[in-house]
Formats: sequence, structure tokens, C-alpha cells
Amino acid sequence: MAHVVKGLPKSDEPLYASDFDNVTLPQAETYAENHTTDISDVLRELSRETHLKTPHGRMLSGVLQGRLLQLLCKLKNPQSVLEIGTFTGYSAIAIGEVLAPTATLTCIEINPEYEDFIRKYTNKAGLSKTIELIIGNALQIIPTLKSTFDLIFLDADKVHYPEYYDLVMPKLTQGGLLVADNVLWSGQVWDAAYNNKEVTALRQFNDKIQNDSRVTNLLLPLRDGLMIVEKTG
Ligand SMILES: C[S@@+](CC[C@H](N)C(=O)[O-])C[C@H]1O[C@@H](n2cnc3c(N)ncnc32)[C@H](O)[C@@H]1O
Repeated sequence: MAHVVKGLPKSDEPLYASDFDNVTLPQAETYAENHTTDISDVLRELSRETHLKTPHGRMLSGVLQGRLLQLLCKLKNPQSVLEIGTFTGYSAIAIGEVLAPTATLTCIEINPEYEDFIRKYTNKAGLSKTIELIIGNALQIIPTLKSTFDLIFLDADKVHYPEYYDLVMPKLTQGGLLVADNVLWSGQVWDAAYNNKEVTALRQFNDKIQNDSRVTNLLLPLRDGLMIVEKTG
């Protein structure tokens, strides 16, 4: 029998991650957020303005994921970070807040409508020297990037996740981390009833990583699923 996740969207071809619910029970998430150190004033203001001015507020990483990204950065102390999919800047600022003063964060966002938003909050957070924003299609931009990265956060364009994996792995330093969001796609990845293009790509992505002997990976069922990949071989 197909596993039914409460709150799944009616359509099996949603356009945005914000169109459907996380896999985590809402009560568990609220309780976890209430027992997690609060976010900064800048992130709270950014979150509020995002919800007020865009219909996609649920695309924000949020408290739990933001805190997890910060913890990974504090433990890893990356000197160079790449973010694919910045939206209004929540995860970028969360990461930027804990980076060493000499570290850099390159953010790629395809939608120019978010640029002013991102720059406004990057300035408010005092991170305009740390964060380099590139507006454009990450699939085309990544091959032009000269540097390597100690941490990469993949959070855009789910239908191309397998291609992104091939593009970013050579740019990830040995021991570096790739963190990819939405890999459970509201539970559709394990349900044979779903075969839309996002879920097909995410299954390929998850299988590709599971079968890659160069990495040690952890699929964390936090919110919509986070794949954490360490380049170990
Ligand atoms: C889930 S949101 C990112 C959320 C953000 N990381 C955060 O935590 O607040 C995904 C973003 O990826 C962007 N995007 C989609 N396709 C893209 C592409 N090919 N290249 C770069 N950005 C893309 C979308 O415009 C959207 O803003």
C-alpha cells in the first residue's frame, strides 16, 4: 500500500517546494524550533519581509535548517562556500553569520527579482564583503567558477540535481561537504505512485550518491530531507 504523507499537494507536479509540506510532522517541527537557539534579528526581519512580499515564504531554510548549516560551518570552518539557489538570502546570511572573517560565500540565484532583497539583507547583516552574489543559471555558471569549495549548499532546480552532483563534485575539496535540500520531496521519493520529473531526478540523485564510493553520506529526514555528503575518497 502506498505510504500517504499528511498534507501532500493535490497535484503531483508542484512548481515550488513551498507548494507542499515537509515530511516532518508539523508538531515535531514546532517543538524542535521552540527548543533551538533563536535566529538573529536580521534573519527574523528577512523572514518576515519574505512572507509579506512573496508567495513562496516556505522556501526559506528556516530555523532548524539554518541552525544546522551554521553548526556544520562552525565544525568545518570552510574558507570557501558555494550556495546554489539563494531566494531572498536566508540560508546565505545564516551561513555568512558564522563564517571566519577571511572566508567567502558565492551565491547563485537565477531570479533577478530577488537581487535587491538579497543585497539589502546582506548589507544589514554586515556581510557584503563575504557574500558574492551571481545572478544567473547555476547550471551555466558553475562550470565557469575557478575556485574550489569546502562546503556547497544545493537548494535549487531539483530536476537537475543529478547534473549538479556531477558539476560540483570536482569543485568540492577533499573532506568537503555537499548539503542538498528537499531530497525526500514530501515523501514522494519512496512512493511508487509518484513519477513526476522532480521525484524522478531526486531518486536518481539519492541513488547516485548512495552508490558513489568517493563519499560518505547521511540522508537526514529533517523538514523535506537533507542529504549531507562528505567527500572522503
Ligand atoms: C528553495 S529556494 C532557495 C532557498 C534559500 N536557499 C533559503 O534557504 O532561503 C530555490 C531558489 O533557487 C532558484 N533557482 C531555481 N533554478 C535555479 C537555477 N537554475 N540557478 C540558480 N538558481 C535557481 C529559485 O529562483 C529560488 O529562489
